[in-house]
Amino acid sequence: MSLELIWEIPDRIEGLEELLSRVVDCAFAAEGIENGAMSIRIVDDAAIHTLNRETRGIDRATDVLSFPTVNYRPGTTARDNRARVRRAYEPDCGGPYLGDCVISLEHARAQAEEYGHSLRRELGYLTAHSCFHLLGYDHMNEEDKRRMRAMEEAVWRLLDLQRDESASNEEEGKPMTDRELFDLACEAMQKAYSPYSNFKVGACLLASDGRTFQGCNIENASYGATICAERCAVSNAIVAGARSFTAIAIVGSTAPAWPCGICSQVPNEFSDDLRVICGQYGGDFEVVPLAELLPRSFGPKDLGIEV
Ligand code: THU
Repeated sequence: MSLELIWEIPDRIEGLEELLSRVVDCAFAAEGIENGAMSIRIVDDAAIHTLNRETRGIDRATDVLSFPTVNYRPGTTARDNRARVRRAYEPDCGGPYLGDCVISLEHARAQAEEYGHSLRRELGYLTAHSCFHLLGYDHMNEEDKRRMRAMEEAVWRLLDLQRDESASNEEEGKPMTDRELFDLACEAMQKAYSPYSNFKVGACLLASDGRTFQGCNIENASYGATICAERCAVSNAIVAGARSFTAIAIVGSTAPAWPCGICSQVPNEFSDDLRVICGQYGGDFEVVPLAELLPRSFGPKDLGIEV
């Protein structure tokens, strides 16, 4: 069991443990940590106030406090500290015990009301936030804040926390922003299989109907059999019935991954004016039309085919 949920107040929310366990599993997996475990104590404002004062010298209640067990090297997260994470191994959990989180239900309830979404959704958000603290993320400066936020958003999307019955569904129907598409590429990048180059690539293709399709590079011991992230995304899209695309976001783990020739040619088959959003993980991105990367391209029209 990845999560021990401890209620220190009489209220109980049915099914919460199941929801929060999924959030925890998903957050740890996004960082590449298998079988990670943690605890969450649900308390009231008075209890979190005392804890905040005693542990951080801050004399007020707050929504969530996180206590990591692993001492990460400054500026790094769990993925960069494999040996330290391994040392946190707990036989009872069958994996590393990453720390403890304390949430004030009173605070969560007030915030849910303020943001106009359900208490379950707020508790899911707070849990994801705490998980990334336990994984070494922080929000002391803008860059750190952005990195942490991108990881949290990836988890929310994966779990569909956004789509929540009681939420005022303003977000739905809004076109996807370049940032959102890029974040989805970052999420896909986490799944890359690239033991030979150690270069991870993630891609996310935006179809004209608003659907998104992710891809990552999949390497092979027979190097030529490697599939690039962009073509993986195109394959996922085609098999789902999408045929027309407006944008593709691509991210490289240590450098911007501009599409190689073949990965420009393949999406060119299905779009006349694809926007290519490209950047390095944790950094900014640039947007250029595919026609700039592949001028005077050869496409289906040249063979009299309309796709
Ligand atoms: N790669 C991609 O996934 N997309 C590109 O457009 C360029 C390169 C991958 C393939 C390989 O796994 C790694 O990056 C190094 O070439």
